[in-house]
Amino acid sequence: MKLIAPSILAADFANLNKSIKMVEEAGCDMLHIDVMDGRFVPNITIGPVVIESLRKVTGIPFDIHLMIVEPEKYIETFIEAGADMITVQAEACVHLDRIIQQIKSTGAKVGVALNPSTPEHMLEYVLDQLDMVLVMSVNPGFGGQEFINGSLRKITNLKAMIEQKSLNVKIQVDGGINQNNINKISQAGADIFVAGSAIFNSTKPTEAVKHLRAAAMS
Ligand code: DX5
Ligand code: ZN
Repeated sequence: MKLIAPSILAADFANLNKSIKMVEEAGCDMLHIDVMDGRFVPNITIGPVVIESLRKVTGIPFDIHLMIVEPEKYIETFIEAGADMITVQAEACVHLDRIIQQIKSTGAKVGVALNPSTPEHMLEYVLDQLDMVLVMSVNPGFGGQEFINGSLRKITNLKAMIEQKSLNVKIQVDGGINQNNINKISQAGADIFVAGSAIFNSTKPTEAVKHLRAAAMS
């Protein structure tokens, strides 16, 4: 199963409700919400207050991507705001195993994201505890960047690690995904595709979702 996760970072923030209804109607599987703190990444986006408001207008699962330092301080806050899945950046966690346990204890799904320069083998001893690995295919911080091709090898290697250990861990890929490259990313072993500009900057976003899904599955 190949899943599409629109990133609302590229949506019109004055009309978030409308954007969410659109991706719901387009049959998207979850909403990818990028939280940035101006410290882990050089950009600041939205936080729990906005997520809490969005939770009231939609039932779509919230996939929260935390690009923040010291994420352990905010896990419960994001859960209360409505997170269904929380992904932390491996590079931001001094005690990665501990924070994975912290997220799991809330009942939410847990993911760990790897920056483009971070090798997949740093997850070797925690992989069996995860629901998802997020392969960053751009340097985090901004939407609309170009896909880094080296990510394909990381996806292939991760897929092999997961299969070798017979685990049920999904591979999500985030950054620079579009209709032209989604198929090769899918072939490499990705299960969940985050797309911001490819959906929200399109003149026909509903069609864009349909085309992305079809290309991922072909
Ligand atoms: C980047 C974010 C991504 C980004 C994807 O730091 O994590 O989710 O919004 O946007 P596109 O699809 O435009 O690269
Ligand atoms: Zn993201």
